[in-house]
Amino acid sequence: MALEQRPVAKLDRAVIFLGPPGSGKGTQAKVLAGKFTVPHLSTGDMLREHIARQSPLGLQAKPIMDRGELVPDSLVLKMVAERIERPDCSHGFVFDGFPRTVTQAKYLGELLRRQGFQQPFVIHMIIGTALLIRRITGRRICKVGGEIYNIYDRPPKVDMVCDNDGGELIQRPDDREEVISQRLHAYQKLTAPLVSYYRRLGFLHEIDASKSMEEVEQEIEQAVASMRGAR
Ligand code: AP5
Repeated sequence: MALEQRPVAKLDRAVIFLGPPGSGKGTQAKVLAGKFTVPHLSTGDMLREHIARQSPLGLQAKPIMDRGELVPDSLVLKMVAERIERPDCSHGFVFDGFPRTVTQAKYLGELLRRQGFQQPFVIHMIIGTALLIRRITGRRICKVGGEIYNIYDRPPKVDMVCDNDGGELIQRPDDREEVISQRLHAYQKLTAPLVSYYRRLGFLHEIDASKSMEEVEQEIEQAVASMRGAR
């Protein structure tokens, strides 16, 4: 029986999607969060919302994100701590793009302990650089609902129009080719060390993210089922 036809299961923990830009974290995190009816927490989306409403945090973050660098830990940590304290997170949540530095991971571990959550489950999305660049440059996002498309692998039915709500599809400013190498560099330098950090703790599960969306979804479903069976 497909997971979505079963009675809603409880996640009761944090699931973390860890992987380079364009590896499919957002695509799969949304699906997994939907299956467990828990919030999908993308720090990239949260920061882009701050930018859209020109909040003080958004004004600080915009030039940094436009350059493809990471927003300072101090700003991101406060934003995340406030979000996971909300009642809708009490049965778990799915992180996409957080933590991104060892400092963020240590802080998250402390937050989860304080709030009585068990250890997080980390899904490491593994994929080569050539495919990442194709996925990032091909990505288009709905301006209204945020649905993610790809002009190569998941085009909308009508060019540049969202299938769900008719919203205009746009390219993210940091998806331009000249910014991508900086984002990949930031990933290698600051985020990739989290792979060995979480592996040492025994929380890491590796996924071949180069497969089709459906195959990746299935692998993740199996990994999460084995994690839930093991606790
Ligand atoms: P963020 O928004 O998190 O971007 P990212 O990590 O660079 O990841 P992306 O959103 O680019 O890719 P994704 O892995 O989610 O892939 P997607 O599913 O969209 O961060 C943006 C910026 O915000 C950062 O650079 C930083 O400045 C700041 N920031 C955010 N969090 C921060 C933090 N914690 N600390 C500090 N700064 C932070 O898929 C990509 C494309 O591929 C799509 O078109 C999709 O349709 C397609 N696709 C997906 N899966 C497949 C598949 N299996 N087969 C074919 N196509 C696929």
